Amino acid sequence: MEPRHAVKGLLVTTANAVWQGGVVATMANAIAAPYGAIEDGAVAARNGRIAWVGRRADLPADFAHAETIIHDIGGCVLTPGLIDCHTHVIFAGDRSAEFEARLGGISYEAAARAGRGILSTVAATRAATEADLFATASPRLRRLMADGVTTVEIKSGYGLTMTDELKMLRVARALGAENRVRVRTSLLAAHAVPPEYAGRADAYVDHIVQEVLPAAAHAGLCDMVDAFAESIAFTNAQVDRVFRAASRLGLPVKLHADQLADNGGAALAASHGALSADHLEYTSEAGVRAMAAAGTVAVLLPGAYATVGASQPPPVAAFRAHGVPMAVATDANPGSSPLVSLLMAVNLAACLFRLTPEEALAGVTRHAAAALGLSAEIGTLEVGRAADMVVWPVRHPRELAYWMGGVCPQAVYIEGQSAR
Ligand code: NIG
Ligand code: FE
Repeated sequence: MEPRHAVKGLLVTTANAVWQGGVVATMANAIAAPYGAIEDGAVAARNGRIAWVGRRADLPADFAHAETIIHDIGGCVLTPGLIDCHTHVIFAGDRSAEFEARLGGISYEAAARAGRGILSTVAATRAATEADLFATASPRLRRLMADGVTTVEIKSGYGLTMTDELKMLRVARALGAENRVRVRTSLLAAHAVPPEYAGRADAYVDHIVQEVLPAAAHAGLCDMVDAFAESIAFTNAQVDRVFRAASRLGLPVKLHADQLADNGGAALAASHGALSADHLEYTSEAGVRAMAAAGTVAVLLPGAYATVGASQPPPVAAFRAHGVPMAVATDANPGSSPLVSLLMAVNLAACLFRLTPEEALAGVTRHAAAALGLSAEIGTLEVGRAADMVVWPVRHPRELAYWMGGVCPQAVYIEGQSAR
């Protein structure tokens, strides 16, 4: 097998390794127990891939020879590496003054219309150099990694010119190259109408479709394409044009949908076979059905729900009833969700949206992988997946949703190698 160099700093190894001596929460659907858990389980990896999972007592003899590295997890819980499938960690400045004003009674939409909101972060981000953005995003990324995050999605969307969108995406790639974490990028040029196109949103969409998207795709800078469908952003017809252009370039799509009102965003995303539709507080039953039929993942963002002071939670019961997979993410951004802890998002999803602890943990593992189109690669502890894993100093996986901060991974592995 060819050596793999997917993540910086990992040594190429051919050694077998085994993790054993605790609860293996595989999060795999195929294992009927809650959390796909195996008591006194074991995971064996070869060349960074999971080669065997089961009860320790059943570990095959070929993993029991002298060259195998044995990791005794000491009664802890082993889970897949966590996946934050929706972030905007690259931005300049902050919006704490807007936060204060909103607590004083101004709505998120009113702040956006008054020139605060996304456009104020756009001005700051345009003024920042690539080095500035790398330097300010790095501690946010490291904070996410401290929670056991081994894969993170990062969006552009605060540049809104060709130069500044590509600048953001290059920073995202650099963050991935310089840290022991997988980074997937989304082009979010359709995040807001930039000031130079005020009142000419369609002309800006032309620019995205004809220039920004092809340039980002041909430079290999974006893995996916995202957009914001909302009255303060883009109409469904405009999003439709962006998505059709993405499809022509072979890029998967995802959508910020139905966050502030039911705009039919979930159904629009589903009609394009989107990997995910995100936010979804106002999604209708018809939107949920469309997502179920298309296999579109619902990405729930409790940090944004809490920060904008929303009162209508997403239709969790309908997602359950129709079998729509629910992911959970931080939405880390300076305006609607200044949240840089994925474990806190897990807790908030349980407390605010009433996800069960098991659903919330599946939301940052198995279903988050699906929201990034990476189900075959990561998200569960199953044979053939990358050996991205976290050892948690807890007795039961539900504790990852229970504690409000305070649980720190004991060890983190990417492709079987320590990521610390
Ligand atoms: O996911 N909804 C649109 N975009 C971001 C917010 C961006 C901002 O307020 O800066 C979100 O909530
Ligand atoms: Fe977002």
